[in-house]
Amino acid sequence: MSVQATRPILEIDCLSVRYGSVPAVRELSLTVAAGEVVAIVGPNGAGKTTVLSAVMRMVAWSAGDVRLDGESLRKRSSDEVARRGIALVPEGRQIFADLTVHENLRLGMVARRSRTGAAEALDAVFEQFPIVKTFLDRPAGLLSGGQQQQLAIARAIVAEPDVLLLDEPSLGLAPTVIDTVFAALAAIRESGRTIVLVEQRAQRAIAFADRTYVLADGVVRDRLVAADATDAERLRAAYFGADTRAVAGAGTPTGGTPKVGTPADDPVRR
Ligand SMILES: Nc1ncnc2c1ncn2[C@@H]1O[C@H](COP(=O)(O)OP(=O)(O)OP(=O)(O)O)[C@@H](O)[C@H]1O
Ligand SMILES: [Mg+2]
Repeated sequence: MSVQATRPILEIDCLSVRYGSVPAVRELSLTVAAGEVVAIVGPNGAGKTTVLSAVMRMVAWSAGDVRLDGESLRKRSSDEVARRGIALVPEGRQIFADLTVHENLRLGMVARRSRTGAAEALDAVFEQFPIVKTFLDRPAGLLSGGQQQQLAIARAIVAEPDVLLLDEPSLGLAPTVIDTVFAALAAIRESGRTIVLVEQRAQRAIAFADRTYVLADGVVRDRLVAADATDAERLRAAYFGADTRAVAGAGTPTGGTPKVGTPADDPVRR
């Protein structure tokens, strides 16, 4: 996709986040233009989830700023951030298993900015995720992992956010289901929404995104574009540091072990 607009919709500016004495994100800066798809990849513990949590004001910042459309989110609560147009599809989906699919969607509606157009937004979601409509009255916990992921994305989209943050939407899903999730993300991109995609499955995310930031130990280690997705050496270097031979010889990647259920067909993860 060619990005017409270069106006930054989201600016993370020298952001630091600590958990007690542990620095999780260190003076990290990144920008996302309106309409852009930006991926954030990196090994376990790199700080990817923390960045998204910080944007949503779910964790405290120790320094720096995050701006939405030029306006600082420093004094905003999580609810206010959501109502200003940022939605998060959290890691592990976090749908409410005992509630029906419809009730889960209604929770997503709470963050809508406009008082009108809710029915149209719901229809658009049904069109994009037919499975959601099919199982509308079913307890969400009875859906498969892939269906729950679609519901989690649908719940975010129904609020019609300007910026959609997704934390590892492909985690634990079978390859064909991952295809469905990425097809949905492609449609969301076409609708003009800005997407920030956190993924451990680096190659797919890099190929999908307009630009990618590689995080390690809470800092940006590298910046990539879609064409870099086929450059295995570049990816390994970006992920593991300059000495790729050491990584090739090591059984376990630096930075932690793969999560359970992470498909192993990504060259970076081999
Ligand atoms: N609630 C917490 N309390 C203390 N430390 C935490 C907490 N959450 C994360 N951390 C630490 O902060 C660092 C960054 O964690 P984060 O979850 O942001 O990484 P990540 O890149 O999302 O990793 P993963 O790929 O495993 O999801 C890690 O060192 C992690 O152990
Ligand atoms: Mg994470």
